[in-house]
Amino acid sequence: MTKNRTSLHGQWSSRWAFILAATGSAVGLGNIWKFPYITGENGGGAFVLIYLICIACIGIPIMMAEILIGRRGRRSPINTMRVLSREGHHHPAWQYLGWIGVLAGFLILSYYSVIAGWALAYLFRAVGGVFNGVGAERAGEIFAALIEDPERLLAWHTIFVVMTMIVVARGVQGGLERAVRFLMPSLFLLLALLVGYAMSTGSFSEGIRFLFTPDFSRLTPAAILIAMGHAFFTLSLGMGAIMVYGSYLPDNASVTHTSVVIAAADTLVALLAGMAIFPIVFAHGLEPGAGPGLIFQTLPIAFGNMPGGWLFGTLFFILLVFAAWTSAISLIEPAVAWLVENRGMTRVMAAVWAGVVTWLTGLGTVFSFNLWADEKLFGMTFFDLLDFATANVILPLGGLFIALFAGWTLSRGTTRGELKLGETGYRIWYILVRYVAPLAVSAIFLNVIGILRFG
Ligand code: PHE
Repeated sequence: MTKNRTSLHGQWSSRWAFILAATGSAVGLGNIWKFPYITGENGGGAFVLIYLICIACIGIPIMMAEILIGRRGRRSPINTMRVLSREGHHHPAWQYLGWIGVLAGFLILSYYSVIAGWALAYLFRAVGGVFNGVGAERAGEIFAALIEDPERLLAWHTIFVVMTMIVVARGVQGGLERAVRFLMPSLFLLLALLVGYAMSTGSFSEGIRFLFTPDFSRLTPAAILIAMGHAFFTLSLGMGAIMVYGSYLPDNASVTHTSVVIAAADTLVALLAGMAIFPIVFAHGLEPGAGPGLIFQTLPIAFGNMPGGWLFGTLFFILLVFAAWTSAISLIEPAVAWLVENRGMTRVMAAVWAGVVTWLTGLGTVFSFNLWADEKLFGMTFFDLLDFATANVILPLGGLFIALFAGWTLSRGTTRGELKLGETGYRIWYILVRYVAPLAVSAIFLNVIGILRFG
C-alpha cells in the first residue's frame, strides 16, 4: 500500500529529467556568486577543503535521504513528513521539518532574487557594451552605481520574482527539463572559456594556489560553519527543495547515482568559477575578501578585455540568470505544492501568494545595500543576517533532522528498499546518515556556540 503512490503534481518524464531539474536547482548563484566570495573572505584553500569534505560526507548522504523521503511520500515536504510519520507511527512533530523548510525557502528566495536581479542588470550592461575596456576601478564604480540605487534594485528584484512565479504557476516539469538541458553544457563551456582567460592574466598560479593550497592557520570555527552551511546551500539541501523534486521521481530511478551526478556537477561548476575569478582578482590587485560584489567587480574586467568579450559577457550573464532562475523555482516549489494540496489553490493563485510574500521580504535586502546599509544587528546588515541565518543555521539544522529521520526513524527496510544498493553501499550510506552527518553538523554548531559563549 505504501508503494506506488503517485504525486498530485505529476512526475518527471525520466530519471534524466530529474537529474537535470535537481542540477538546475543545485547549480545557481551559490556556485558562481557565493562560493568565490565566501572562499575569498575565508582565506581560500583550507576553507575549500572543508567544503569539499562536507559535500562528500554530509551533502551526498543527506541528498540521498531527501530524495528517498520525497519519493516515498510523494507530496509536498510538509505532507510527506506528516504521512511518513503517521504511517510509521512516529511522532507527528516531524512535520515541522517541512514547515521550517518552507520558511527557509521564502527567506532565501527573498534575497536570492535581489542578487539574481544584479545578474539581470549586468546582462543589460553587457549587451550595451558597458564593460568595453574597463579596469578594476571602473568595474567597481559600475557595481556601486547599481547597488546604491534602491529603485533600480527594486525594479530588477520585481522582474526576477515575476519571472520565477510565471514558471512556478505553470508547473515545474514542463520547461525546466528543456531549459536545463541547454543550460548546463553551455555554462560549463563558458566557465571553461573564462578559466582560459584567467590563464592569460599572469596570475593563474597564484589564483590556483589560493584555492587549492590549504593554510589551516586561516581556518576559524566560523569559517568551518560557513563551509558546512554552504555545502547545504549549494546542493539545495535542508529545506525540502530536493525532497519535493524527489517526490516527482519515477520509482525505478537510482537515488544514489542521481545524487552523485548532481553533487559532482555542482562542485565542478563552483570550482571552475573559483578558478576563473581568483586569477583576475590577483592580477588586478583586488581584494579576495571584497564580499558579495566579488564576481560583479571581476568578471566585467575579463569580458571588457578579452577578444569577443561582448558576446561571451552577454552569454555568461544570460546563463547566470538562467542558473539563478532554475534554483529560485525550487526554493518556492515546496510552499506552492503545499498551498495546492492543503489550501485547494490553483497553482497560479499559489504562485501569486508566494510571489507577494517573497517580494515584500526582499525589500529588506534591497535596502541593505543602500538606505539601510548602516543599520546593523550583530554587526550584520539585514541581508547578511538573512544569509547567515538561512545558510549557516536553518539549512544545516534541517539537514540534521532529515539525517536523523532517515537514519534513526525510518525503518531499515524502508530505506534499503528505496535505495536498492548492494550491502556495502547501503552500509556506507547508513553509517554516514546515521552517525557521521548528524555528529559532524552538531560538532560544528557546538564549536561555534562554544566560541561565542566562552570567547
Ligand atoms: N543551490 C542553489 C544555489 O547554489 C540555492 C538553493 C538553496 C536552491 C536551497 C534551493 C534550495 O544557488
